[in-house]
Amino acid sequence: MSNLNKPMSETSNKENLGDGKHFGRVAVLCGGTSSERQVSLKSGLRIFTALKDRGVEAMLIDVGSDLIEQLNNVKPDRVFLALHGGQGEDGTIQAVLDFMGIPYTGSGVKASALAMDKRSSKLIWNSLGLPTPASHLVDASTDLEALDVPMPCFVKPNSEGSSICTFPVYNREEFDTAIAKVLEHSHQVLVEELITGPEFTVAILDGQALPVIRLETDNTFYDYEAKYISDDTRYHLPSGLSAEKEAEIQTLAAKAFESLGCKGWGRVDVMQDANGEFWLLEVNTTPGMTDHSLVPMAAREVGFSFDDLVLELLHVSARQESANKERPWMPVETSDRKTVTG
Ligand SMILES: Nc1ncnc2c1ncn2[C@@H]1O[C@H](COP(=O)(O)OP(=O)(O)O)[C@@H](O)[C@H]1O
Ligand SMILES: [Mg+2]
Repeated sequence: MSNLNKPMSETSNKENLGDGKHFGRVAVLCGGTSSERQVSLKSGLRIFTALKDRGVEAMLIDVGSDLIEQLNNVKPDRVFLALHGGQGEDGTIQAVLDFMGIPYTGSGVKASALAMDKRSSKLIWNSLGLPTPASHLVDASTDLEALDVPMPCFVKPNSEGSSICTFPVYNREEFDTAIAKVLEHSHQVLVEELITGPEFTVAILDGQALPVIRLETDNTFYDYEAKYISDDTRYHLPSGLSAEKEAEIQTLAAKAFESLGCKGWGRVDVMQDANGEFWLLEVNTTPGMTDHSLVPMAAREVGFSFDDLVLELLHVSARQESANKERPWMPVETSDRKTVTG
């Protein structure tokens, strides 16, 4: 907690980043099979190029079902995770890496799983008194008639990212259609109170909130098009918030990140209502690292070039390695292992 909200310039050891050779062989994992595959490929290539430029022995792996085999072949000393959404961000790949004893960037298994499950994140924030819009979780078996839906509301998949299949909803008819559409792609739908007001995102690096970015789009909300395709989305940095409000949202974002047990880096999405109150939407544990991405944008504001940021993320994960090693089991002598068949 101690570093939270100190400006990065006071706490960063960026000047000590060096050329990064001591990280050994670094495998950048990207691609995968989630709906964010294309974005992840871009992030991965950019990270890989930065590592090479800094003299790191890096390799790029497009993750498929042969991941374990590939890791056994490549034998990396550590992994840079650039997988967005799906198994790369929900704790599955993190568990594989833990099991194989390979350190990696970012959050561990439990925090990744919690952050990917928006409803679970919100239940934790509710229990801690951190503000997040009122919500319901809906699946195919839910009796929609019996549901006390906040109206207007926002309907989105509980666990898919990047604003795929998300809808603002203003009446009951639209609601039923929106739920049906999301259920075509996802098992669980999150129905949230609609927040009407500006949207912010707060990058977190090593537990500290970076300068806040305000997002402005001509689309109804910050949808897939606005995120990755449109050049008309405006990113305001500085955010335009008063110093007091900027500090408030940074503290809130850092608490939200910490409350899920997230580590290393991430990005917290927050909206502000007409009364100026902030509302937590979600934590992203492996945010985008493309040329449109927001964490690199915020990091630049405190003096990190893209290459600096990539090396800093490796440094942060290396510092956390000893903590990550606290696993519920210890390696034991297994020469007496047997496999019984028949
Ligand atoms: N409760 C809400 N009220 C208004 N807009 C919302 C709400 N929840 C999400 N949105 C809009 O949808 C976008 C995507 O939602 P988010 O929860 O961040 O999921 P993801 O980024 O994983 O798709 C947000 O950036 C915001 O523009
Ligand atoms: Mg989001």
